Amino acid sequence: VPVDPFDLVIFGGTGDLARRKLLPALYHRDADNQFSEDSRILAVSRQDMDDAGYVAWVREVLEAHLPEALDEDVFARFEKRLCHIQLDVDDADGWQAFAERFADNGERICTFYLATAPFLFGKIAAGIADAGLSDAPNRIVLEKPVGHDTESAREINDAVGSRFDESRIYRIDHYLGKETVQNLIALRFGNSLFEPVWGRQAVDNVQITVAESLGVDERFDFYESTGALRDMVQNHMLQLLCLTAMEPPASMNHDDVRNEKIKVLRSLKPIAPGNVRKTTARGQYGAGMVDGEAVPAYGAADPEQQAPAEEAEAETFVAIKAEIDNWRWQGVPFYLRTGKRMARKSSQIVFEFKPVPHSIFGDEPLQPNRLVLRLQPEEGVEMSIMTKEPGPGGFRMRSLPLNLSFSQAFEVAYPDAYERLLMEVLRGNPALFMRRDEVEAGWAWVDRILEAWRMEQVEAQEYMAGSWGPTDAFVLLDRDGRRWYEG
Ligand code: BG6
Repeated sequence: VPVDPFDLVIFGGTGDLARRKLLPALYHRDADNQFSEDSRILAVSRQDMDDAGYVAWVREVLEAHLPEALDEDVFARFEKRLCHIQLDVDDADGWQAFAERFADNGERICTFYLATAPFLFGKIAAGIADAGLSDAPNRIVLEKPVGHDTESAREINDAVGSRFDESRIYRIDHYLGKETVQNLIALRFGNSLFEPVWGRQAVDNVQITVAESLGVDERFDFYESTGALRDMVQNHMLQLLCLTAMEPPASMNHDDVRNEKIKVLRSLKPIAPGNVRKTTARGQYGAGMVDGEAVPAYGAADPEQQAPAEEAEAETFVAIKAEIDNWRWQGVPFYLRTGKRMARKSSQIVFEFKPVPHSIFGDEPLQPNRLVLRLQPEEGVEMSIMTKEPGPGGFRMRSLPLNLSFSQAFEVAYPDAYERLLMEVLRGNPALFMRRDEVEAGWAWVDRILEAWRMEQVEAQEYMAGSWGPTDAFVLLDRDGRRWYEG
């Protein structure tokens, strides 16, 4: 069923996110007949471009970024929706002209998608409000990151919140739009099998890995001012942790789920200068080989970078031993690890269960049972169990996987997370978005780690591109007598 007629206004309409994610996602949803005829997509940028110029630009973008060939019939429909509005957000006259573009928008609900630098969020929300466009049912979408630390996140939330009601603010974390992340909810709460073993009685430790083979490349200046802790942990990793560790919500209603997630964030044990070296590892990639190709070190690949490469400080890798101080998870470490230029792209959540209380197999080594949720690529669920190797001589034990591949089971291509999230916004369903308190609680935890790193002068340790991170990441688990499970 097509969504109600809308005006989707993308600030940053010619930017990287629009190019790589938003426009392909919108095109695909249009191809699937999800948009009513008179819905519009209005891109806002500072560029001097008319509607026809934007249509031509979008065609090129889609040709470059769609995995399939452009369908001319679909594009003929899609291009009619596209408009471009030139606007400098500091220019009052520009906002006047902006408002005029909506004079004839009839009953269409306006959704303002802010795919810009976060320091502009407050200013843009104010401009929209002054243009008389912030009243219900209009909505605003904030792309991550919401701020740079707790204080800036609060300022943004205050500024946007004074113009838009919280129920109409959609803070994106695109991991929540990933099918396999939603499958984590399906697995936990659609099966009775797991609940009895979901906690300290049965689980020894949990490992959440989001490894990328991509480097930072032309995003060097951004990364220097951000680092992996802010870029990946404050949002994606903490959201995965919340969904993994939260109590069963009363329903799938957005506030029921968010209320459970916030409890997890509030239970996170703070990391302080006294324990930061024992609970975190910070890394930065050097040159190396990824997928059989030689790749340069962090800071040596961006032709336009401002910051000097030899003084590069930001971490491109972080590993953390997180502890959740509540009844369910007391004493169960959650090891988080994310990095760029790692051996391969692989995101997974691994539950390592406790060993059997007593082995009846003598010296025969036993491996712990593991439940592995593979988020990407090769989405699926795997459960490793101990089995007996066939043969007449004694009991030789071997760990083998029970393996479920989602792509084989469903035989459909998974839509990009942004397709799902854009549709949820347009339908007015905030369940897959972050509430203000979640974002701020995430920042509060991360801020303390940043502060502890600063006070203890913890520098990023070099790791070779194409490896699984710096030595400290291995020491982190080794200290607890455990190892990272690569699968
Ligand atoms: C983004 C980060 O939020 O997520 C990027 O800013 C990162 O640095 C990306 O590469 C990873 O997303 P995905 O969907 O490819 O795992």
